Amino acid sequence: MAKGTVFFCQGCGYESSKWMGQCPGCKEWNTFVEEAAPKKTAGGRVKGVRERAVPVMLKEIELKEEERISTSIEELDRVLGGGIVAGALMLVGGDPGIGKSTLLLQVCKNLADANHDVMYISGEESLKQIKLRAQRIGEFKDTLTLLCETNLTEIEEVVKAKKPEIVIIDSIQTMYNENVSAAPGSVSQVRESTGTLMMLAKTLGIAIFIVGHVTKEGVVAGPRVLEHMVDTVLYFEGDRHASYRILRGVKNRFGSTNEIGVFEMQGNGLREVTNPSEFMLNGKPVGASGSVVTCSLEGTRPILVEIQALVSDTSFQIPRRTTVGMDFNRINLLLAVLEKRAGMQLGGCDAYVNLTGGMRLSEPSIDLAVVAAVISSYRNIVVDEHTIIFGEVGLTGEVRGVAQAEVRIKEAEKMGFTRCIVPKSNFDGIMANGKPGIEVVGVAGVIELVDIL
Ligand code: TYD
Ligand code: MG
Repeated sequence: MAKGTVFFCQGCGYESSKWMGQCPGCKEWNTFVEEAAPKKTAGGRVKGVRERAVPVMLKEIELKEEERISTSIEELDRVLGGGIVAGALMLVGGDPGIGKSTLLLQVCKNLADANHDVMYISGEESLKQIKLRAQRIGEFKDTLTLLCETNLTEIEEVVKAKKPEIVIIDSIQTMYNENVSAAPGSVSQVRESTGTLMMLAKTLGIAIFIVGHVTKEGVVAGPRVLEHMVDTVLYFEGDRHASYRILRGVKNRFGSTNEIGVFEMQGNGLREVTNPSEFMLNGKPVGASGSVVTCSLEGTRPILVEIQALVSDTSFQIPRRTTVGMDFNRINLLLAVLEKRAGMQLGGCDAYVNLTGGMRLSEPSIDLAVVAAVISSYRNIVVDEHTIIFGEVGLTGEVRGVAQAEVRIKEAEKMGFTRCIVPKSNFDGIMANGKPGIEVVGVAGVIELVDIL
């Protein structure tokens, strides 16, 4: 090893003095790349904030009502926790081509329309390319300034001189600091650049959006490396082949996480999807076995989704199981519960379980609907299309209660459903709070569900 170099995992940023095949941090293979060692700078104090470290009492800290700048995109505002906070450093991650630049350019447009001072700094596209994109989105006002630059020292100068309210950096992987000898996109460059931007955001009170590409191959450092440095982490996800995109809050120092925003990519930019349930249930088959609608809670928001199962006799030695949009192991567990507790011979069957619409859900409240879809396909019985089913299923085949059942039932009612199958424990609570305008059935175990279906 040459002197003055270290090895970084390109996935999680784990630092090591020697090369390793597997990263001890994130357990990924072949992610270590040799980089020049970052220069050690003396002391870590934020310059310009204070001269001496002076402790203050909690009660002496004055709290101003946090002013939030609205992006005029409701879906985004909700994920941010109500809008942009001055001085916040926000990371927008996602696969290349998912629509990060488009979303942020639309944010620029809205902020400029509301007479905010915005600067869009791009290291990926030329001014002409940005203009072309802007033309697709709509008319822009003059308060938006553009800059094509990748040298962070330059950017720092410009931002300090102009002091815009909001800055957008697209993308962090193209930025470099002259003092770091590693290539742009490497772990040390990405870290150093984010550090500089954080300093700018905190000392000048500028809200900064950072775009970060998620990469699997580990050629450039992923946004995971900087998750802990920024205030807010948003991930933009979605199926490449579907037109809608989901913006998910993963970390938020100024609001709650788990909130999602739903968008649809159109010819003239991203449009908000205000009623995702309708969107997700679009094209649902009528009178087909193996199709069940459930309600999942994403943050504060209930969303109806359709779960489909296909169970058929296997022609393989080991039956095939595949899932889309759900945890594979969870589905295997539910199939095992059905086999043991409801006496269904699933061991000789292939099972395919999909969440349609391309959503990804990890909430256990969809268990009961998965079970219902599997039973429906196995027995070839149709679940009434105006019924929604939710509840968590335990290993003994019991159906456990879920949070905020009332909210889910309301959403189902709003979407024109007439019957809800819910956990027994939730049922009692719902009835105690007054009867809802929709038929509610409580089940205590999966065997009971088999009878109802
Ligand atoms: P982009 O914002 O460039 O992605 P990212 O910055 O995350 O890499 O999105 C590019 C994709 O979006 C591209 O495939 C074209 C498509 N697109 C539209 O469909 N409509 C539009 O109005 C725009 C601007 C882009
Ligand atoms: Mg882009």
